[in-house]
Amino acid sequence: MQTMKLTIAVCLAIAIINVSIAENASGPAGTFEAAERVAVHIDANAPGVPVSPELYGYFFEEINHAGDGGLYAELVENRDFEANTIPQGWRVDANNVFTPMGWRTRLWFDSNTPSWELVTSDGAEGTIQQDIILPLNERNPHSLRLTVKNAGKRCGAGNDGYWGMNFRAGESYDLTFYARTEGNAKFDVTVSLESQSGDKVYAKATVAGVGGAWKKYSQSLKADASDPKGRLVLSLSQPGTIWFDVVSLFPQKTFKNRPNGMRPDVAQLLADIKPGFLRFPGGCVVEGASLNNRIRWKDSIGDIAQRHGDFGLWGYYNTYGLGFHEYLQLAEDIGAVGMFVCNAGMSCQARRSEVCKEEDIQNYLQEALDAIEYAIGPVSSKWGALRAANGHPEPFNLKYVEIGNENWGPDYLARYKIFYDAIKAKYPKIITIADAQRPDQPKPEPIEIVDDHFYVNPGRFFAMANHYDNADRKGPKIYVGEYAVNRGVGTGNLIGALAEAVFMLNMESNSDLVVMCSYAPLFENVNKRDWPVNLILLDSSRSVGRSSYQVQKLFALNRPDVVLKTHVLSPQVELAGVPASMPRGRGRDAAAQQQPSKPAQVQQIYALAGLEQKKGELIIKAVNPTPSPATATITIKGLAKVGNKAKVITLSHADATAENTLDNPNVVVPVESELAVAGAEFSYEFKPNSLTILRLPATQQ
Ligand code: AHR
Repeated sequence: MQTMKLTIAVCLAIAIINVSIAENASGPAGTFEAAERVAVHIDANAPGVPVSPELYGYFFEEINHAGDGGLYAELVENRDFEANTIPQGWRVDANNVFTPMGWRTRLWFDSNTPSWELVTSDGAEGTIQQDIILPLNERNPHSLRLTVKNAGKRCGAGNDGYWGMNFRAGESYDLTFYARTEGNAKFDVTVSLESQSGDKVYAKATVAGVGGAWKKYSQSLKADASDPKGRLVLSLSQPGTIWFDVVSLFPQKTFKNRPNGMRPDVAQLLADIKPGFLRFPGGCVVEGASLNNRIRWKDSIGDIAQRHGDFGLWGYYNTYGLGFHEYLQLAEDIGAVGMFVCNAGMSCQARRSEVCKEEDIQNYLQEALDAIEYAIGPVSSKWGALRAANGHPEPFNLKYVEIGNENWGPDYLARYKIFYDAIKAKYPKIITIADAQRPDQPKPEPIEIVDDHFYVNPGRFFAMANHYDNADRKGPKIYVGEYAVNRGVGTGNLIGALAEAVFMLNMESNSDLVVMCSYAPLFENVNKRDWPVNLILLDSSRSVGRSSYQVQKLFALNRPDVVLKTHVLSPQVELAGVPASMPRGRGRDAAAQQQPSKPAQVQQIYALAGLEQKKGELIIKAVNPTPSPATATITIKGLAKVGNKAKVITLSHADATAENTLDNPNVVVPVESELAVAGAEFSYEFKPNSLTILRLPATQQ
């Protein structure tokens, strides 16, 4: 029904090395000097830098159908028949929608019953229509009216979900729906899981005696065959009129068997990294394209029939089925602490911002305080009691609250201070995060942690290999809340992932300052790409981590407790086909991405060592972003003993533009091997286009 909106294909030419000797660059932990050969000196005698267990985490936002049609396991799209509801105060003009401040976006639906279609067989005649009379409740003003004139064999309403519903043979699906009829008319409603064309039926049941006033009906259906692109049909076999609302089809198998839960394959990818934190719910969606379009967490909790979704500023309707409680539960289920980003009384400044009046600030603040109370307040509190009623009496592990997303300027400074003071006064243990300001602008005060964002081309991250080395240690700690190579790498490729790895080495080596980081965005349903490059790709039945995901995983699973002083000597080389910098412009601008530029200068090897003290292991991470192998001499000082066998984990591919896709998920995946180590000095040949992890048993002095 919907087609991919954006396709970007930018191919990198095969990189060619030209060896040249560059100027020295140095920093406190991962120092580098240009040289003719590669050497990595690790000094365990020098003071190490402790690394936070929360260094690597996730940024989640409802973009690219990350939640609805992604992580969230609901199979029905537009289950509440509200997908074409325009936010209050917005105006439609032809094919465009305008916010009151004049920001424009395209109409995101092409019918008043998006995702639903009339299903007829054997000459049946009828209509489906969105209706507003006698609504289910005020939060769900619209319903679907099915009018059957001539039932033929059947006449009904079909929904094929988010580009097809995934049915698996032998698995059960819970269907729930609300229905009403006029007078006390009763119908038998046939419900079926079937193929797109309806020629195959995988499960079928009759819900008898449906009718009268609004009432909830439930039916479980077991599929007898698999189909990743199936549909659900609710039909009548007699003439009449019936209204449906909140039609939900949920697989019984969800991650950790949570009701209203997550797709197991997708959530497992999250859990596999053992993330330190989960940031939610965004991103720009926190702010909204107008203030009434911000994510309103109170509309996203409790019974799904009482939730009030909204248009999401990335171009589609968000059900809020994946809501505040589900985010907190997911964080707990993947072993992460929670990070909530609250609206600071400002809508998105990149979309003609609306700023709340001064007298309204308290309302926005209260919304944030109530959210914190829901997450961690006692069950005796108003919102803590609701959390308990929703199935979680124990407080969730919400540790961080970010005040606004990408907000800046005097309005932000004023609002930030009010939020900061109130949050810290009521919840002193909550750690607050401020949005980064432009370098020439005053900073909010006081700041515990500031959120830096980077969307760059590979050349930029290679050039930032020492970015935080000389950063101010007297200022706030840094959370790199959004970062990715999303320019000049098409829809993502290995060289982009390796550039991210180089930047991550620098964050890790400066983890006294950079305390957390999260790649962004997290998910992309490949049928709707809103952002050029995303970490995990999925469709109705498959999910795969791109090479950047593999990099994230390797860093997170090989995170040391302490970083050791690591001095790298390496030739510096040019990577032909990988530009040093990109012209300014949005990452989606493919034409801008293809402008010629000087080739990026890279080191043949970037490296960083650290200790995982509990396991007694030395971890060496090294990136070779060049298309040639690089042999390095590795010397280790200051350890009592180094084991003679190393575990080697290599992520590489002969082609720097290689990538994992849903069809070919294992193109760039880690490979494990063993290495005999002579002692505290040995050499290793690092593969072309590679991230390598060496783990050696090590005894400290
Ligand atoms: O990650 C996509 C967007 O990038 C986020 O919504 C926003 O915070 C940033 O501009």
